[in-house]
Amino acid sequence: MKSPWYHERIVYQIYPRSFQDSNADGIGDIRGIINRIPYLISLGIGIVWLSPIYVSPNDDNGYDIADYRNIQKEFGTLDDFKELLAKLHQSGIKLIMDLVVNHTSDEHPWFKASAEGDPKYKDYYHWQKTKNNWSSFFGGEAWTYHPKRKEYYLHLFSKKQPDLNWDNNEVREEVGAICRYWLDMGVDGFRADVINIIAKADNLPKAKPQIALSGREHYLNNPKIHRYLGELRDEVFSKYDCFTVGETVLITPKQALSYIDKDIRELDMVFQFDHMGADNYFVKWFMKKFRPINLKKPLSKWQNAIGDRGWNTLYLENHDQPRSVSRFGHPDYYEQSATMLATMIYFQKGTPFIYQGQEIGMLNASFGNLDDYEDIETHNIYKTGRKLGMSHKRMMKKIMMMSRDNARTPMQWDDSVNAGFTSSEPWLKVNPNYKTINVLKNQTQTNSILAYYRKIIALRKEHEIIINGDYEDLYFKHKRLYAYRRTFKDEQLYVIMNFSSKPLRHSLVDEFKGLEPLLHNYPGKVFDGILSPYEALVYLVKK
Ligand code: NOJ
Repeated sequence: MKSPWYHERIVYQIYPRSFQDSNADGIGDIRGIINRIPYLISLGIGIVWLSPIYVSPNDDNGYDIADYRNIQKEFGTLDDFKELLAKLHQSGIKLIMDLVVNHTSDEHPWFKASAEGDPKYKDYYHWQKTKNNWSSFFGGEAWTYHPKRKEYYLHLFSKKQPDLNWDNNEVREEVGAICRYWLDMGVDGFRADVINIIAKADNLPKAKPQIALSGREHYLNNPKIHRYLGELRDEVFSKYDCFTVGETVLITPKQALSYIDKDIRELDMVFQFDHMGADNYFVKWFMKKFRPINLKKPLSKWQNAIGDRGWNTLYLENHDQPRSVSRFGHPDYYEQSATMLATMIYFQKGTPFIYQGQEIGMLNASFGNLDDYEDIETHNIYKTGRKLGMSHKRMMKKIMMMSRDNARTPMQWDDSVNAGFTSSEPWLKVNPNYKTINVLKNQTQTNSILAYYRKIIALRKEHEIIINGDYEDLYFKHKRLYAYRRTFKDEQLYVIMNFSSKPLRHSLVDEFKGLEPLLHNYPGKVFDGILSPYEALVYLVKK
């Protein structure tokens, strides 16, 4: 059976604010993306995911939407968007949008009307006379008092992001209509923001107090969600040739399957976060030393647990996560660790997602000055930490490693002013390393990180085993070797990596003596039976 196109293609995530500015206002825009279509084609990716471009007061950089059917002025116009969509389609590239419907902006007309007590909109959000003890993902309380309505409203993110009440039929109909609007325009699907928290327990009960995310037992994967997403699937998504990928926080494989199992398909795939916990405890601000085994374990767990029942997403970065090479790589083996990480993730079974700049090995900016950060989460967490008595130095250490702005600094195109992103002041400072890390430089070097990404992308198109082969761990308990085998028809694909900065000898490597690897991140290195630091080898064998 032919695989669905969203299993075969590679997704490239664009964070429009930081991708390419075309009108010198310091903010990336749609025309900037259009101008970079040749770059997207040259990468070989097949789907673009656009982070939100809708009208927004930008409290959370577009994840607070005030009008779901129009484009934020600084990004361009609806006509620009239609042009982008048409040009991507002409280039054989599909486009998915971000669907942010757990909450709206407090500047959305629905919320304004709801706050006024307008009968139609009164119950579009969660209002209560008294607040309870739920806390917000951004630190602090999840309730804010509204003087007009004289009630508290729930917001699991910032106070400018009130949560929609999904129990309200009209809210669900509105969401369906919004999806149809974009699908009718030709978009090819959605990435559904924090979708597993949309349904809240009836009457919003008091939370069991927790150090973080109090209240989560009342909104994570609440059983009602299956009815709500089932409705959307039946009434909207199933009518189009589209796909959905849900961002699902704190999810287990079993819960994931309750959405993506091939017999359920409320969503086509989900983003899970287990492997993003490899350097932290529960939430990213409680940092711990990174150990490769802590990345290998959850990745393998998800490969095994999802197996044939559903479909995985493969990612290491996005606009919320720090740069993967800064987190999991090694500064002394920058290129090697960047390419090893790419090998590790993109030969697994699932749809690959590449976040802009990852393909050139962009690193955390780690600005030392709090004022250089724009992100609301970063500032809220700083305030929360300081209130709890943590020193400025301690908070800055966390922020420099974990702030979302590490991934949001402008795309580094070349070594000209502001990395070729804008000719004026960028909305967020460019990473000072842009003179050495940029697209142009990568393009001129045969063995660059970019060239390696292109090879992986090309290989995925050439070998069906990479898409559909079964996954199996090898020497799972080994702390430095990460090796797995994919099996498909009469072929086997071996992915063998030394996930450490020390040479590694292992009998597995000897089995491939004399064989030409399909991919190798140590160009020109002759087989000596020892894996060098961060060496990655891929072998294709016919049985
Ligand atoms: C997840 C998004 O990826 C993140 O950027 C945003 O802040 C929250 N959801 C709230 O929408």
